[in-house]
Amino acid sequence: MSDETAGASSPPMVRMAGVDKHFGDLHVLRDIDLEVARGEVVVVLGPSGSGKSTLCRAINRLEPIDSGIVEIDGVALPAEGSELAKVRADVGMVFQQFNLFAHMTILDNITLAPVRVRGVSKSEAQERARALLDRVGIGDQSGKYPAQLSGGQQQRVAIARALAMQPKVMLFDEPTSALDPEMVGEVVEVMSDLARDGMTMVVVTHEMGFARRAAHRVVFMDGGEIVEDTTPDSFFSRPATERARDFLGKILTH
Ligand SMILES: Nc1ncnc2c1ncn2[C@@H]1O[C@H](COP(=O)(O)OP(=O)(O)OP(=O)(O)O)[C@@H](O)[C@H]1O
Ligand SMILES: [Mg+2]
Repeated sequence: MSDETAGASSPPMVRMAGVDKHFGDLHVLRDIDLEVARGEVVVVLGPSGSGKSTLCRAINRLEPIDSGIVEIDGVALPAEGSELAKVRADVGMVFQQFNLFAHMTILDNITLAPVRVRGVSKSEAQERARALLDRVGIGDQSGKYPAQLSGGQQQRVAIARALAMQPKVMLFDEPTSALDPEMVGEVVEVMSDLARDGMTMVVVTHEMGFARRAAHRVVFMDGGEIVEDTTPDSFFSRPATERARDFLGKILTH
């Protein structure tokens, strides 16, 4: 693709600059500067309440911000309206809760947005949906309803549904946290495949194995600030701050 060879001249896929956000008196995002390059995988770590989810949600303006800039592929996110819907459609999001439509089959869950938002024909959307279900390893489940699938399968459907919009970037907010332990691996595997295929990803996760193996960068947040932004190797073996050492001490010993 010509986009991929554009090199230094292409804008970052995600750019946040000077982003601030309050919830009442609580300053939850403090002067956030973050750039994610095309094809880059950034894992966001930090203690509970440090602002990881808010950061994720600010990237597609699910969470309005007080000040600063958010750009997707060089396009500033407008505050609202059809332009916002357009840019937002480029950002896929997967949450801890799968949020599938319970009354719709797996196939319909996946084809809904491409047909309604992207204007793709139903037959083309279905063809693509089947290919995506194959890709996440559940090609045989397309006629079922969400409740008939395991948690790990449902989360893979949620990933396929996000991919069906052909997003430029995928955001994951603790995608494996609601899963039974034996289902974590299959979802991490799908995410690792995506990373390998060159998807731009911002991932909030407790899966340190994924962070070490798949991330290009680790961003460590505490108290609404980005405290460290470095390679996984350097973060895990040589954390630069006391706050990061403290965090790692807690998660690596339990
Ligand atoms: N809608 C809201 N209204 C008020 N305060 C909120 C709201 N959402 C989040 N907060 C607060 O903002 C801070 C950051 O929350 P956020 O959910 O981004 O943290 P987090 O790092 O994702 O935490 P966790 O690891 O527990 O998911 C927390 O103090 C939280 O209580
Ligand atoms: Mg969170």
